[in-house]
Amino acid sequence: MKDEFKKILDSVRAIVDSEKSRNEKLAAICRLLYDSIPHYDWVGFYLADSEHQQLILGPFIGEPTEHVKISFGSGICGQAAEKLCTFVVPDVTAESNYLACSPKVKSEIVVPVMKEGKIVAELDIDSYTLDAFKSDDKELLEQICQWFAELF
Ligand code: SME
Repeated sequence: MKDEFKKILDSVRAIVDSEKSRNEKLAAICRLLYDSIPHYDWVGFYLADSEHQQLILGPFIGEPTEHVKISFGSGICGQAAEKLCTFVVPDVTAESNYLACSPKVKSEIVVPVMKEGKIVAELDIDSYTLDAFKSDDKELLEQICQWFAELF
């Protein structure tokens, strides 16, 4: 992993270990990622409501989205919640099961936060750059989500 991402991970660890509330930690992680990585143009967390098979929008940074509730299976976020794995979509126009937020978005990554085999949340990042998310982005974001699971 590149040094820049290692430094971001150190900062994320400090946020996770801080005395803030869970929502404040989420907001701080969104802010850190958005400010540190130029190709991250929308950064947000969805919280899973497994009883109702829905994702509920939590803290985010970027343009407001109409997708404040997403059913499991719907869009990239909903597919990640159903399949319980990271989704990397290099070109959102090529994805038929996609919920558009802004025509500016070109690529997207969604990483589930798993606790004891169940989904508790998701980290969703949109980019205005085509094919913006590479293997080191995936590695960075999966580590963040693994730590974030400690808060549930
Ligand atoms: N594009 C997502 C919807 C959420 S927004 O990106 C904020 C999807 O297809 O699930």
